Amino acid sequence: MIKLPGLIDPHVHMREPGQTHKEDWDSGTSAALAGGVTMVLAMPNTKPPIFDASTLDLALGAAKEKARCDYAQFLGAGPDNIDWGRHKALPLQAAGLKMYLDQTFGELRLDSMTLWQSHFQNWPKNLPIVAHSESRSMAAVILMAAIYDRPVHIAHISLKEEVLLIKAAKERGIKVTCEVTPHHLFLTEEDISAIGGASLRLAPTGATGRGEVRPRLAAKEDVEALWQNLDVIDCFATDHAPHTLAEKDSETPPPGFPGVETLLPLLLTAIHEGRLTINDVLSRMVTNPRRIFSLPEQPETWIEVDEKAEYELRAANMHSRCGWTPFEGWQVKGRVTRVVLRGREAFKDGKILVEAGYGRNVRAQKNVESTEVSFRALRMIK
Ligand code: DOR
Ligand code: ZN
Repeated sequence: MIKLPGLIDPHVHMREPGQTHKEDWDSGTSAALAGGVTMVLAMPNTKPPIFDASTLDLALGAAKEKARCDYAQFLGAGPDNIDWGRHKALPLQAAGLKMYLDQTFGELRLDSMTLWQSHFQNWPKNLPIVAHSESRSMAAVILMAAIYDRPVHIAHISLKEEVLLIKAAKERGIKVTCEVTPHHLFLTEEDISAIGGASLRLAPTGATGRGEVRPRLAAKEDVEALWQNLDVIDCFATDHAPHTLAEKDSETPPPGFPGVETLLPLLLTAIHEGRLTINDVLSRMVTNPRRIFSLPEQPETWIEVDEKAEYELRAANMHSRCGWTPFEGWQVKGRVTRVVLRGREAFKDGKILVEAGYGRNVRAQKNVESTEVSFRALRMIK
């Protein structure tokens, strides 16, 4: 048995409000705990999207009632909420600002570069901005970070050109950080047919079936470049994006994979194979996300792992409402056996033991002061 700190997943989709047939704060945070994740940062592409005080209240109200692990909620950058200077308290109540600069699930894509600029100028400099920006839009957003001299975190990088550009930007002192998902580390486009899905049979050319995801699964060469440049990658984030099996098997499958329950077994297996060290995982799942997103420590919180347990990943044993995983049947080594969250046994031997509502908002008013203090402290260190 090994004991590790609770993991932080800075990129999940909890689907509430609005799409609770896919997931909700209860099922999604239960899945997180079962995966050894004790804190999640939730994305704003819900229905409605989270972009102002009243929609933030909707998401946080549901989370307060139902979440079983700790959390914070992102606000989305839209065309009508650029005036962040007038809403000083609101940004501090969010995990950060999420900017969707490329097409994906939901309606939050920002096309106008003038809007990107406004958000970059108006969102408080000391609070996180996360960009969904692939390929050339990533290059543009890094330029903006340099011009406005503020940090930006790039979500789910997947391409060789992306990791190399971020490496070069970091070498020049631009304040850019990035994350990679387990599916972009462990799957390539060659796995799409094995992942399966009805639409592969319905429209064989160009269809990706259940393998539909944004960014798309990449070529082997891209995946190899991510592994070769692990030192450039600051965080592992699942982009846990549950859609039901019926939706994934429809003619037009929505993009997204569930991920919180398969993340740690995959990483532990990679450690066992000598491809990663335990410190590689802890820096990317605990210390770096805590620093980048200025998250509080969770006292009396740890996870216990049976690093020798060998078994097959099965969606049937998981807690997510979506009912499937792209890693079905994968042989892994390493199982989360117990999770203790703020002094309470939260998960043991496959069972969730804390009640809905036990999870805390790490950006709640009482924590905002400590968020500001730690941002100030970070600025002093820099
Ligand atoms: O595949 C994806 N699914 N990529 C995203 O950026 C969004 C996500 C979702 O919300 O389903
Ligand atoms: Zn996402």
